[in-house]
Amino acid sequence: MAFSPITEESHVEYGFHRNLRKEYPEIVSAKGNYLYTSENRQIFDACGGAAVSCLGYGHERVIQAMYKQSLTGVTYLASSFWASPVVKDLCKELIQGTNGEMARVYLTGSGSEAMEAAIKLSRQFFYEKNKDTPRVNFIARENSYHGNTIGALSVSGFITRRQPYIPFLMDNVHHISSCYPYRQQEEGESDAAFVTRKATELDNKFRELGPETVIGFIAEPVVGAALGCVPYVPGYLKAMRDVCHKYGALFILDEVMCGSGRTGTLHAWQAEGIVPDIQTMAKGLGGGYQPIAAMLLSQKVVKTIMEGSGQFIHGLTYQAMPIQAAAALEVQRIIREENLLEKVTRRGTALGALLKKFLAEHPNVGDIRGGGLFWGIEFVKDKRTKQPFPPEVGISQKILELAISPQFNMTFYPGTGSVDGIQGDHIILAPPFNITNEDVDNIVTVVVAVIQLVFSEMAG
Ligand SMILES: Cc1ncc(COP(=O)(O)O)c(C=O)c1O
Repeated sequence: MAFSPITEESHVEYGFHRNLRKEYPEIVSAKGNYLYTSENRQIFDACGGAAVSCLGYGHERVIQAMYKQSLTGVTYLASSFWASPVVKDLCKELIQGTNGEMARVYLTGSGSEAMEAAIKLSRQFFYEKNKDTPRVNFIARENSYHGNTIGALSVSGFITRRQPYIPFLMDNVHHISSCYPYRQQEEGESDAAFVTRKATELDNKFRELGPETVIGFIAEPVVGAALGCVPYVPGYLKAMRDVCHKYGALFILDEVMCGSGRTGTLHAWQAEGIVPDIQTMAKGLGGGYQPIAAMLLSQKVVKTIMEGSGQFIHGLTYQAMPIQAAAALEVQRIIREENLLEKVTRRGTALGALLKKFLAEHPNVGDIRGGGLFWGIEFVKDKRTKQPFPPEVGISQKILELAISPQFNMTFYPGTGSVDGIQGDHIILAPPFNITNEDVDNIVTVVVAVIQLVFSEMAG
């Protein structure tokens, strides 16, 4: 059958990636911080897509690394038959990035797949030792997002994404509250007391379920899309880990969004001085150059598997592909060689300070939180009572639409549900790690202008 010639018809939308009723601007090229539309607009990407593009677009070194790997002819390999030097190098780079705290890497193609792997492997950890293990339950958190596949969505506490699929979701997942000081910390309650309250809630959940039935506790150290960059309170990760270990359960961290350097350390857990038993990472791993994610396993977990079956009862066709690894390895080498974590911390501190300077007093800005180059701004109708806008007002969407319009040409990552899973609006800023001071100023100028305009138009 002959292919049809290219006609105007080729521009008709046949894809179904998100909203069937909406038309999206077409991006035809990109370089550095900028996306270029088919209408010749230049758009500054201040959120790296979904906190993915940690080196910006079109980075010459990453493109060359992928090209070089393509020239070997080995873009794909069946990982159940073969090893690959570039995959080995990537795994070594990742383990070295944990200072040897983690022992092995399992590569997948997406964050959801990495979370599915973590869910299954953590069950297998107990099954290796006892085929009749009673450990079947997970404890996870409200206002969390761990992915859209059934297992990952089951552990997620993202109400709107879960709602239609509740009959399919795993009934062995039990949610406790998130760690969200802006809406949960009581007046006069110290951080230490707040952390103790959270650890007690986890402990109580273990006891309610029967500690011997719990596989592990799953959390994002800095909550991304579901809450808008809410970092853990210092001491929280350690306290939650201690509860897990008291009951012999696994402490599992999802660093798909907040990891790979986004918060200023390669892994968010490194700032707390603790080590998870299992962790995932994804977005900044490949920086958007290839779909790639990873599950990292601690010495303890690897030892148990080694002493048992020696294999993970799982597998995906597109895992550990050399072309994915070539891209991710180069992204990770650039982060290390160019000392970008130090830049993330410095630029991030400046970004946070400027956002607070210009927006903290705004009557509709409830909270500005984050760290590194990962900042969230939460909007409220009433600053004193923290009452959110009704969801139908669509504040975060309005802000994105104005930001992305020809007047401002910038993207922010919008989110909803930060109050109770349905109400609450926020935006996320997650620019590339190699932004300049001028870029930081530019982002702040636009964010402030957009927020002021959206709310003044609503008031007027
Ligand atoms: C914390 C977290 N976990 C898991 C996922 C799922 O990753 P993916 O969309 O690559 O499947 C996401 C995606 O946004 C995420 O933010």
